[in-house]
Amino acid sequence: MTDILDIESRTGAIKIHGPDGFEGMRRAGKLAAECLDMLTPHVQPGVLTDELDRLAREFILDNGGLPACLGYRGYTKTVCISPNHVVCHGIPGERTLREGDIANIDVTVIVDGWHGDTSRMYGVGEVAPRARRLVEVTYEGIARGLAAVKPGATTGDIGHAIQSYVEAQRCSVVRDFCGHGLGKVFHDAPNILHYGRPGEGAPLRAGMFFTIEPMVNLGKPQVKVLSDGWTAVTRDKSLSAQCEHSIGVTEDGFEVFTLSPASLFQPPIKST
Ligand code: MF3
Ligand code: CO
Ligand code: CO
Repeated sequence: MTDILDIESRTGAIKIHGPDGFEGMRRAGKLAAECLDMLTPHVQPGVLTDELDRLAREFILDNGGLPACLGYRGYTKTVCISPNHVVCHGIPGERTLREGDIANIDVTVIVDGWHGDTSRMYGVGEVAPRARRLVEVTYEGIARGLAAVKPGATTGDIGHAIQSYVEAQRCSVVRDFCGHGLGKVFHDAPNILHYGRPGEGAPLRAGMFFTIEPMVNLGKPQVKVLSDGWTAVTRDKSLSAQCEHSIGVTEDGFEVFTLSPASLFQPPIKST
């Protein structure tokens, strides 16, 4: 996801893509989702987060992609791994995953210049019911956001659909990071806020590509970034979960580019 304050790096204009763009995004999205599928059996108690990063990097390179995050604004890893109270941008390293952890793994690949950006939650061994519930609320939240996508709706409709559901479940939506346009550019216009009001924001049009990637906390929405300049954590140390898909707006709704080819992971996507 991208920092809300990052707007000046965008081109500003929202791009409208044609059939070639959809074809390119399908291939990039598929490789990104396959990478997350590939990691699934490796997410076990005791695994080194750096080992998961190495597996992801080699898988992407072996399959004709490039790791988009490697070297991006000084980031030195392929994936972000964000366990427990880490909201996003956790840096793989000497940290191992432990029994009972929940962790988001976020990967972005480039295939023929197109970006596929996706993340999902992994449970490590036995996971406590309240952590499982948070993950379920996050998945239902993104599903509600997706269901709002169609030409003529607005980015605010997406945010409202997510926020109203998540808050009704007594969880909170992180405000400091948002989804983003993508395509040949990694982080492009428009910002996709995961909160908002119906009818506000940019109108959606067929051919727009963007991510939806809500971060949901069990506690309060406030986050802080650690001194490494990347790792964002909940201020109140409450658990946080996230899910991300890259999508395209179609004439009658949306296409998800990052569905799991192995069906290891299917958030409940509702058709419009
Ligand atoms: N994949 C993240 C996103 O969803 C971006 C991570 S940038 C990095 O937009 F440099 F931290 F990897
Ligand atoms: Co993203
Ligand atoms: Co991402």
